[in-house]
Amino acid sequence: MKEKILITGGAGFVGSFLAEELLGRGYSILAIDNLSTGKLDNIAHLRDNPDFEFITGTILNEELMDDSIARCQKVFHLAAAVGVRLIIERPVETIETNILGTEIIYKYVNKHKKKVIITSTSEVYGKNNTIPFKETDDSVYGPTIKSRWSYACSKAIDEFLGLAYFHEKKLPVIIVRLFNTVGPRQTGQYGMVVPTFVQQALLGHHLTVFGDGEQTRCFANVRDVVWAMAELAESEEAVGQVFNIGSTELISINDLAKRVKTLSGSDSAIEHVPYDDAYESGFEDMFRRMPDISKVEKAIGFKPRRNLDKTINEIIEYFKE
Ligand SMILES: NC(=O)c1ccc[n+]([C@@H]2O[C@H](COP(=O)([O-])OP(=O)(O)OC[C@H]3O[C@@H](n4cnc5c(N)ncnc54)[C@H](O)[C@@H]3O)[C@@H](O)[C@H]2O)c1
Repeated sequence: MKEKILITGGAGFVGSFLAEELLGRGYSILAIDNLSTGKLDNIAHLRDNPDFEFITGTILNEELMDDSIARCQKVFHLAAAVGVRLIIERPVETIETNILGTEIIYKYVNKHKKKVIITSTSEVYGKNNTIPFKETDDSVYGPTIKSRWSYACSKAIDEFLGLAYFHEKKLPVIIVRLFNTVGPRQTGQYGMVVPTFVQQALLGHHLTVFGDGEQTRCFANVRDVVWAMAELAESEEAVGQVFNIGSTELISINDLAKRVKTLSGSDSAIEHVPYDDAYESGFEDMFRRMPDISKVEKAIGFKPRRNLDKTINEIIEYFKE
């Protein structure tokens, strides 16, 4: 009998690739998603697989979580309110899903004594400017009146609670901090920059760069990221630990816009939009973001295998289709 794995947020961008990765490793999957930002299209190609089961439901439904966690050997918890635009427009939903929802997951993985992999984010480093970020570096947040920090704080609370369950109750918890992760199926609807640029380039619209565009990021291919998540879940040494997962190929958003234009053969103009107009008055962004990946490399031999050009080309092909 195959080991069954629960993926919360399984119809999301990362969740759908993780399901593929785990099916390929011989597991059977139970994916649960409330389809708020996820889509059935993301998992359409998996629905006929007898090892893939999907339930539309919310992680806030305790009975569903109790039953589903009892039926699985491991849990990957990805369900969350994600995307800067969504966080600013629906702050209550963000905080409730990311804190209350994760509390419910911990409650039932602890009840059934199951291993859980929690998906955190590079946003937990906040405005810290000392790149590359090591897992032990400080979190530096803006004030609570700026709702964008609620996402980082909610994920930080998820980390605190996970580490507390590990230390106090010996629950096997692994925390992964994903840095910008991109690939096909990601939507630009909630403020994700790469799919937004690709769609703008293909439609001949202006590529809208927020701020002066000199902020830098590293974009990892989603397939590299889910490989690392699956490997860590199989490692006993990873339990009770926090790991950065991401690419170290640093690029400014101005250069990213130019790269997307070149690779898509687009002659769209690049337009700069002040953050205040793009999001909300007084919006604060992170100036630089880059992971130190030496810890995950040592643990499982992780090295990003797909470079940014390859990933952008995959995204261009996806949107063309
Ligand atoms: N993509 C990135 O660059 C990135 C970076 C850092 C962290 N992460 C984390 O990775 C995880 C997956 O993100 P993603 O990029 O795939 O985004 P996504 O929006 O595609 O995935 C999140 C999924 O959770 C689902 N969901 C939301 N609330 C739910 C609820 N109450 N019950 C059940 N399902 C619910 C959504 O419908 C969606 O399918 C998230 O936890 C996110 O914080 C992603």
